[in-house]
Amino acid sequence: MARITASVYTSHVPAIGATIDMGKTAEPYWQPLFKGYEFSKQWMKDNTPDVIFLVYNDHATAFSLDMIPTFAIGTAAQYTPADEGWGPRPVPVVQGHPELASHIAQSVIQQDFDLTIVNKMDVDHGLTVPLSLMCGQPEAWPCPVIPFAVNVVQYPVPSGQRCFNLGKAIAKAVKSYDEDLKIQIWGTGGMSHQLQGPRAGLINKDFDNAFLDQLIADPAALAQKPHIDYVREAGSEGIELVMWLIARGAMSDVNEGKPTPKVAHRFYHVPASNTAVGHLILENS
Ligand code: DHB
Ligand code: FE
Repeated sequence: MARITASVYTSHVPAIGATIDMGKTAEPYWQPLFKGYEFSKQWMKDNTPDVIFLVYNDHATAFSLDMIPTFAIGTAAQYTPADEGWGPRPVPVVQGHPELASHIAQSVIQQDFDLTIVNKMDVDHGLTVPLSLMCGQPEAWPCPVIPFAVNVVQYPVPSGQRCFNLGKAIAKAVKSYDEDLKIQIWGTGGMSHQLQGPRAGLINKDFDNAFLDQLIADPAALAQKPHIDYVREAGSEGIELVMWLIARGAMSDVNEGKPTPKVAHRFYHVPASNTAVGHLILENS
């Protein structure tokens, strides 16, 4: 049967993608940021999964105010990198896994989560920047990816508790897939940042590090944090962090009474554009 081997958490920032694409990762401003992902790129080579289930948010690229799915699962065979205004990023086309994605859709919808099924969409920096940070610049991404988009852009957004419970449902769905696949689940976006209004530029290191601590040690308690606390403490775009609870809710300590996952890597860095960058790799025991 399929199983979740690890979860990966990382911020996304468009400027990180641009820096990689323009070959500027060694510049003094960026060098400390990319140093924090050196371990991760090697870890990905040593622990390449069969499929990545990638939880991210679209930034009015595939969706818009015309249509706002709270949770959308990609069941397509492939996804093209989006043009976000400067042309598409020069990164590989993302190969999907329609069979596993359809299975997860069926299982999770029948566990009472109303997912939107997406058979065609372009993927923006929310998905491609985490792949670049973890995989570098390969000719092709190392494995198929199932994109799972969460609305954290337009109010109302899903609660942390809803996201955590959804992670549990995804774990159950994976476990009932009848093929021996190693699956990683990634939670992306965050950490503290605000791109708009009088508080633009807000960073909250204390909040971010407490979030990382609690995500590791007590995610069920973290899931109870109301969304207004994210916005107040971590900025209007800090709400992207609720997506990390989907990945955490799919881990084996939550679902099978296994020990707390092993922290393979933890990294935190400011500044990166307007965003505090946080990163964790948790391995199931
Ligand atoms: C930035 C961060 C984001 O999460 C985003 O979607 C766009 C921009 C930034 O820090 O510049
Ligand atoms: Fe974002």
